[in-house]
Amino acid sequence: MIINIFTLFPEMFTGFVKESIIGKAIENQLLEINIINIRDFCYDKHKQADDTPFGGGAGMVMKPEPLFRALENTTGKIIYTTPQGVTFNQKLALDLATEKEINIIAGHYEGIDERVIEQKVDLEISVGDFVLTGGELPAMLITDCIARLIPGVIKKESYENDSFFNGLLDYPQYTRPQDYNGLTVPEVLLSGHHKNIETWRLKESLKRTLLRRPDLLKNREFSKQEKKLLAEIKKELNYIKK
Ligand SMILES: C[S@@+](CC[C@H](N)C(=O)[O-])C[C@H]1O[C@@H](n2cnc3c(N)ncnc32)[C@H](O)[C@@H]1O
Repeated sequence: MIINIFTLFPEMFTGFVKESIIGKAIENQLLEINIINIRDFCYDKHKQADDTPFGGGAGMVMKPEPLFRALENTTGKIIYTTPQGVTFNQKLALDLATEKEINIIAGHYEGIDERVIEQKVDLEISVGDFVLTGGELPAMLITDCIARLIPGVIKKESYENDSFFNGLLDYPQYTRPQDYNGLTVPEVLLSGHHKNIETWRLKESLKRTLLRRPDLLKNREFSKQEKKLLAEIKKELNYIKK
């Protein structure tokens, strides 16, 4: 997959494209990330990429010409990172991971000239209801999330067990040592009994989701086993409350 990121601050991506899973995915040619400096498309003497807003007011706006030029020969969806977009989530990441090539524009200042959005942008994505100084971190966040879903980047079982994939939060994880200063791990995980481990994990996932994100359970079609486990959980929680 190819991800092209359009930014005024390319150096922010230096470590991002080298380290950890992203770095490996690039090395293994499963992912190509191109960081494109929007300023290279500013043709005036001072390479000015922003200007004051028409109508007055605070801040600067990213000029349309460099962006139109930079985006001229792109193929694939054009995404603009903006607090006004649809909120990014795992489902959207899964959809985007099936694309061959995508383009992400990182805005800055007050954002980009609206005409670029109207003419070129296919999808506006927000990473949450808050405002950052620029779209570089959102572009990295979106890229990171998509990258681990590209076949071969990490094991499928790995992301399929993650939170949100099947509509639930992940179960608690433990590793060695078995006993850390008297803090032990749940017995069932040491039993080697796969079916019991699976049931325990599903129950813990359901319990966490119920306690932390009950909204995720609202439209869920529960399996017979999930219904049974949920009834047990509610009974246990009531018992604790009393
Ligand atoms: C200071 S923000 C501009 C905010 C804009 N004036 C508004 O209120 O909608 C500058 C840039 O940061 C990026 N940005 C800030 N917050 C974001 C968020 N929650 N999600 C995605 N991008 C964001 C966008 O690319 C935006 O153009």
